[in-house]
Amino acid sequence: MCGIVAYIGNQEAYPIILKGLQRLEYRGYDSAGVALLDQKLTIYKKKGKVAELEGSLIGKNLHAKSGIGHTRWATHGEPSDRNAHPHRSPSGKLAMVHNGIIENFAPIKKELQNKGYVFQSDTDTEVLLYFIEDIYHNDATSLEEAVRIALKRIIGAYVIILLDEAHPDTLIAARKGSPLVIGIGKNEHFLASDASPIIEYTKEVVYINDYEMAIVKPDELILKNPGNERITPFITKLDMELAAIEKGGYEHFMLKEIFEQPTAVFDCLRGRLDAKAGTIRMGGIDKHLELLKEAKRIILVGCGTSWHAGLLAEYVFEELCRVPVEVEYASEFRYRNPVINPGDVIIAISQSGETADTLVALENAKNQGAFIFGVVNVVGSSIARLSQAGAYTHAGPEIGVASTKAFTAQITVLYLIAIKLGYAKGCLSRDRYLHLIGELALVPDKISEVLKSAPAVAALAEKYKDARDFLFLGRGYNFPIALEGALKLKEISYIHAEGYPAAEMKHGPIALVEDSLPVVFVATKDSYHDKLISNAQEIKARKGSVIAVISENDTVFQDIADETIAVPAADEILAPLLSVVPLQLLAYYTGLAKGLDVDKPRNLAKSVTVE
Ligand code: G6P
Repeated sequence: MCGIVAYIGNQEAYPIILKGLQRLEYRGYDSAGVALLDQKLTIYKKKGKVAELEGSLIGKNLHAKSGIGHTRWATHGEPSDRNAHPHRSPSGKLAMVHNGIIENFAPIKKELQNKGYVFQSDTDTEVLLYFIEDIYHNDATSLEEAVRIALKRIIGAYVIILLDEAHPDTLIAARKGSPLVIGIGKNEHFLASDASPIIEYTKEVVYINDYEMAIVKPDELILKNPGNERITPFITKLDMELAAIEKGGYEHFMLKEIFEQPTAVFDCLRGRLDAKAGTIRMGGIDKHLELLKEAKRIILVGCGTSWHAGLLAEYVFEELCRVPVEVEYASEFRYRNPVINPGDVIIAISQSGETADTLVALENAKNQGAFIFGVVNVVGSSIARLSQAGAYTHAGPEIGVASTKAFTAQITVLYLIAIKLGYAKGCLSRDRYLHLIGELALVPDKISEVLKSAPAVAALAEKYKDARDFLFLGRGYNFPIALEGALKLKEISYIHAEGYPAAEMKHGPIALVEDSLPVVFVATKDSYHDKLISNAQEIKARKGSVIAVISENDTVFQDIADETIAVPAADEILAPLLSVVPLQLLAYYTGLAKGLDVDKPRNLAKSVTVE
């Protein structure tokens, strides 16, 4: 949450920072700002999206060789020019951007107010900046030392970057709990919340770890630990192409990413699944196969869409591996006092690998002796690094705030693990095993088939866009998909939507059904199909409108439903990889029909680095 970017070198800083902010806008877009240093420090900030800031700066002289920028997801204080970052210190000489939350900002603010400081904003960030400057002026010999002293007192999560008018050749950055990557150019450095603003200029990056501080000059990167000792930066090569973070002719990233799903699933299977040879090879599993086979329990941890992937995996692991499974919202798990026993394996699911709740939940579990296996998309992210083993989802960068291809790639990895483990444990016959991997190999082509329904789904969206509420129902493997369909619709179209196990309808939600309430059934052919038909009849009897995602040639459901979208037949375990796609399209086209910004839905952010 919040995107930060900074530059120091020989090029003009502003265009680099502006482009970086546009790339990081998925992290928050309530307001944006830049601080530029050309002898004097100038700060520009504006409520609204990065484009508003850009518009307000047209015609200004923005010449500077160093600068910092920020795009905000508001925590402390409403979105406004005043609360936008960068903030300026009381002397006017320092500027700072921050991503994260300073939990103990209130007592520090009080102390500073007692000393006579007057704050200009409602943010926790400004408190930390004033605190740093107070130490800088009174108790430290350098800004670097002042930052180090100040951070010792801070509780919370942060990445901060400071610009000091007195030292135009140096940026100071520090991290705890929020991400920071530094790109190394020729006599220049790029700092950002993720690699997307950097990739265009250099592929050599250093991921900064918690509690590290970076003193960054055009030609030098000094890394220090909290004990003020120098550490050698570990340079990694980025494995990402610029095209992957551009829209490539699509109107929105979300649409592009929905349409990338055949490739995302294919890339996820590539090199792992060999249907002809009948093998699944996954380094992270092969290395720890005995430990996983012996697991007494699997606990899946995630948030949002990733939690839905976990819920589906519960059904799949129980069925294929006969192991007890629990699925946990990371935000609940971290604050409970969960019983973790030897033999428990935690599977962490996260697209970004930076979600604060998931990260802390894992740290806690790891400290209690659990083995952490990461299913993560972003290479080198905090969760990937914390995991003791893992499997990347290889979905490629996902930029639309609502997760789509990352979800299908997550569940693909989870299927691979479950099939491999189930077979290794002897829970799956060779025939069933070969059948499942053969079916999995067909999924990319089948998703391409499903995508052909896009125009029909767009027409449906147009028809139902003014509905006040939507219900999404499914059973078994399609129940998590119903939840995901409801989440997508509310995220993108702001229509109130609920997902339910279909049979639970009669225990409450059926009271909501009235004339033409749209009820979406995720009804591909499976063992629950007959039951679901009855559930759909119950909706029709109360005059609801039934929209159904069905398997091709399902004439029974076609007769009951007002609208159907057919997907190719598939094994019932794998059907969610297909049935979710029309629901993603429905959310996308409904948002579009309502004239909303589908890539940047209100109040949301993609990488939730605050709890
Ligand atoms: C945010 C995003 C969701 C995502 C969730 C978990 O809420 O908007 O799309 O599912 O965070 O994120 P993660 O990166 O851990 O999968």
